[in-house]
Amino acid sequence: MMLSGKARVAGVMGWPVSHSRSPRLHGFWLREHGIDGAYVPLPVRPEDFAAAVRALPKLGFAGANVTVPHKEAALAACDEVSPLARRIGAVNTLVCRPDGSLWGDNTDGFGFLENLRAGCPGWRPEAGPAVVLGAGGAARAVVAALLDAGCPQVRLTNRTRDRAAELAADLGGAIEVVAWEERRAALAGAGLLVNTTTLGMTGAPPLDLALDPLPAAALVTDIVYAPLVTDLLARAQARGNAVVDGLGMLLHQGRPGFEAWFGVRPEVTPALRAAVLGDA
Ligand code: ATR
Repeated sequence: MMLSGKARVAGVMGWPVSHSRSPRLHGFWLREHGIDGAYVPLPVRPEDFAAAVRALPKLGFAGANVTVPHKEAALAACDEVSPLARRIGAVNTLVCRPDGSLWGDNTDGFGFLENLRAGCPGWRPEAGPAVVLGAGGAARAVVAALLDAGCPQVRLTNRTRDRAAELAADLGGAIEVVAWEERRAALAGAGLLVNTTTLGMTGAPPLDLALDPLPAAALVTDIVYAPLVTDLLARAQARGNAVVDGLGMLLHQGRPGFEAWFGVRPEVTPALRAAVLGDA
């Protein structure tokens, strides 16, 4: 729709940002609800981030999403952040408050859990241990969300063990750090397997992990969504495990920001998935 002088504006700050699917995601919801608003890509170099983020309230922005490589810097730039964002050490959603201050939250873990709940309604976080592969920024949000949702144990394994140990020390709770070489054995008795590494992504090597110890009732998910069906998901599905792809995590993590900026609670639908996926 045509923008008025009262249009509300939000965007996504990243570097590079041209591959971000967030403008498609929020653009779909803005059109769907006929909202007088816009959501734009905001390419911001790392050295310019601090100044750029301070400018958001001055430019009258409703807020912004923050993506690679700015999520940690965004935490430092906020006037106030949610306790969850502080624990994770990263902010992905900024809200400009009426007094000109910046509030930051992290909705990646919310997106992760909502995606699993929507994609596999029978799954319960409390049902059993979760094996989480990887210890990057995404893993931090995933592990915090699982523990907060009542998951009895997270078995965390990463190529660089120190990074997993650091994550476990930062978040606390029932996290067992497992050596990367022992990742196959860690699957025994698990209720959930999550890949948060870049392995399996288009252009990256596949994830080298035999699934035979994983219980048939375990849910398998990959936060990689290009390709939508990774080698891991295809192999899990072939042996009868329930699987949920990673696209929904992106879609669901956008919901709290959209509601804060534009005042409408958006839904994740098949039409939205198709629009965000597009032809790539
Ligand atoms: P994000 O913030 O999106 O999670 P990241 O911080 O770059 O991304 O983390 C990428 C994850 O993929 C890390 O867990 C990384 O392992 P290291 O901590 O050892 O780097 C993992 N990863 C990337 N390439 C890998 C590979 N070839 N083998 C095993 N793990 C790999």
